[in-house]
Amino acid sequence: METSRKHSEKYSFDEPVERKNTRAIKYEYAKRRGLPEDILPLWVADMDFRSPPCVTEALDERSRHGIFGYSDITEDYVSAVQSWYRKRYAYEVNEQSLVTVPGVVFGLYTAISAFTRPGDAVMLQRPVYYPFSSAILDLDRKLVNNPLVYQDGRYVMDYQDFERKVVENQVKIFILCNPQNPSGRVWTREELIRMGEICLRHHVLVVSDEIHSDFVFPGYTHTIFASISQAFADITITCTAPTKTFNLAGLQISNLFITNPDLLRLFKQALKKSGYSQPNLMGMIACQAAYEGGEAWLTSLLSYLEANISYVRDRLKKDFPAARLMEPEGTYLLWIDFSGLGLADAELRKRIEQKAKVWLDHGTMFGPEGEGYQRINIACPRKTLIEAMDRLKRGILA
Ligand SMILES: Cc1ncc(COP(=O)(O)O)c(C=O)c1O
Repeated sequence: METSRKHSEKYSFDEPVERKNTRAIKYEYAKRRGLPEDILPLWVADMDFRSPPCVTEALDERSRHGIFGYSDITEDYVSAVQSWYRKRYAYEVNEQSLVTVPGVVFGLYTAISAFTRPGDAVMLQRPVYYPFSSAILDLDRKLVNNPLVYQDGRYVMDYQDFERKVVENQVKIFILCNPQNPSGRVWTREELIRMGEICLRHHVLVVSDEIHSDFVFPGYTHTIFASISQAFADITITCTAPTKTFNLAGLQISNLFITNPDLLRLFKQALKKSGYSQPNLMGMIACQAAYEGGEAWLTSLLSYLEANISYVRDRLKKDFPAARLMEPEGTYLLWIDFSGLGLADAELRKRIEQKAKVWLDHGTMFGPEGEGYQRINIACPRKTLIEAMDRLKRGILA
């Protein structure tokens, strides 16, 4: 087994951490969902790694204070967010534009409520993170799909279909996923410009979900959509969070950037109507600590993840030569097409869940375009990944 001593010395990404009986949805709820109790979970997008020590220390310290009353962001918090985005993305976060919400998904729902009415059209690009569809449908908006197109081993956008559907449906909002979940695409500046120009031409707002932006592999660059031009910034709600990057999803903190004052006012009105006021105290503490002190940890994590991806790539070649990995440019999620195995989708799922006893996100959860695909979360110790690949080989091929 290739263990990476470099990482384990300082941050122990190799060391499995027991997550059962910790209220982790990834681990606890298999039985309730009709899955075997001893299933190995590589589904929901959180990591089996501890957050960096700077985060746990800050939380410990705050916890020792013992009073957890209503709290709000401070100048230090804003500076930490600003420094992170300035240093990593050369993006200036304007303090007035910063809005904290409990999560990016909460932000999506609020944006749809703020800027559209029931029946209005909201567009997305399937296959995509499934709560995008839920948000549109739960709020009784019209879902318009501009499917991604598979080309030369990766997804690309179909701009003609995009513009046609925007016009035909009078689309009000486009929800962009960048980097893209489940495929790991990191949209290039040129791709974003082409898409953004269509949105500008037809007065479409862009809700840009950039939660995975810190997971980008060498050779690729994350572009904050709103950073491309003032005109793009004016039509954009940028959704960010430290929660994927530092494994803090349970602490519920997300930072939105809305620079257009009119959009900001409408968004804040909708936020008030949702009943939300102050952010989660521990979320703020964790976010600030992570952005102030977590960068070296993230650098190590990224190389650990790259090595995990190589491991899965090799195992697929060896054990599943008919499967096709979409090479990830970012994220810790792998999008794998198993249709070459010649199994019906339901049979593949049955074998994975009941025989292999591995819990993955099935492709069709991301839209019918995901048929034959599985999404694997590789943010776990190598040992766990080896076990998962062994189980998949035994369960699918047996
Ligand atoms: C693209 C994307 N957006 C949003 C989220 C969830 O964000 P939050 O927990 O802040 O609602 C996820 C989690 O997997 C995601 O992949």
